[in-house]
Amino acid sequence: MANALNLDTVVLSEDGKSIIILDQTLLPGKTEYLSLNKAEDIWEAIYKLRVRGAPAIGVTGGFAYYILASQLDTDDMDQFVAECTKIMEYINSSRPTAVNLSWALNRMHAVLLAEKEGKTVAQMKERLKEESIAIREEDIAISRNIGAYGYELLEKLGRGVGVMTHCNAGTLATAKYGTALAPIYIALEQGWDPKKDLHVYCDETRPLLQGARLSAYEMQTAGVDTYVQCDNMASYTMKSGKIGIIFVGCDRVAANGDFANKIGTSGVAIIAKHYGIPFYVCAPSSTIDMTLESGDEINIEQRKAEEVTEMWYEQRMAPEGVGVVNPAFDVTDHSLVTGIITEKGIATAPFKESFEKMGIRPVEKYVDKKELCS
Ligand code: MRU
Repeated sequence: MANALNLDTVVLSEDGKSIIILDQTLLPGKTEYLSLNKAEDIWEAIYKLRVRGAPAIGVTGGFAYYILASQLDTDDMDQFVAECTKIMEYINSSRPTAVNLSWALNRMHAVLLAEKEGKTVAQMKERLKEESIAIREEDIAISRNIGAYGYELLEKLGRGVGVMTHCNAGTLATAKYGTALAPIYIALEQGWDPKKDLHVYCDETRPLLQGARLSAYEMQTAGVDTYVQCDNMASYTMKSGKIGIIFVGCDRVAANGDFANKIGTSGVAIIAKHYGIPFYVCAPSSTIDMTLESGDEINIEQRKAEEVTEMWYEQRMAPEGVGVVNPAFDVTDHSLVTGIITEKGIATAPFKESFEKMGIRPVEKYVDKKELCS
């Protein structure tokens, strides 16, 4: 199987007319790409998690804005802006929790509003193309920086360390390298032995199995000594003394350091606290939403019952008609977090002050305003 690090998760096609995404719903069995240029198909790909992971859907949002804007048949700037606003709102409605999607759409829209004076629609389309490509390129550099800060922590713990992770916040969840798995890729670059120096434990991550299907695949194709465990085995492994550190990704961090990540993350953090295992959250600064005071304000995506009751089974595994809860994310309290690793450094409590010192500020929102998050 190809090393996952060499696969492009999301890119703009050479002719600039489509987004090419790796269909993550087929992994690890099949490596297939989709070429998307219709609004409904892009929306479906994000909603169905064909492209997923907060930074990767942010990059997709940037390309979606550009491609759909470039298809608009008008020379009138006011009409162009009005249509772009509709595009932004439609694409943003595909998934609510990861702030990176609205962050990228807001960034594209801010460029349009700030630079439209004195430009033709055709010139503005070219400018939007540049911006969408910049978002992807920056994501790669940001992920590498997160990896470098995380690697410093691994170095302190020493070779042979056990790392636990939840869901997938690896290269597949970003443009390259990932956030939570980036420190592992940097360690490998620094000559760490993948079989002896690193032992990675991937929570299977019910109900959509991003840990088993994606993180385990990434780590195994990188040659790393990798283990999959059902989510309810995390406490057992932590108690065994095999885990030196936990790295998770995240979808949105509030100003006080509370953060939303894949469902089950808060349980992992609570258990880690019990066993005294350092618990780090890895996130680009674009995932930090300084407009939210605490995690109580984060909008949690609720998904279909069938993902829990039947999707992975030959026959339904719960009685017909039973109630099902299927929140895609949960919020972990900041008191359980050892540090938040960003591309600007590692933030520690009190998190708001730490973020402010790093220059992280609230950004102007055209979509995903606070009143939409109730
Ligand atoms: O529903 P998903 O698979 O998009 O959820 C992904 C996660 O929860 C990741 O941990 C998060 O987006 C960070 S990815 C760098």
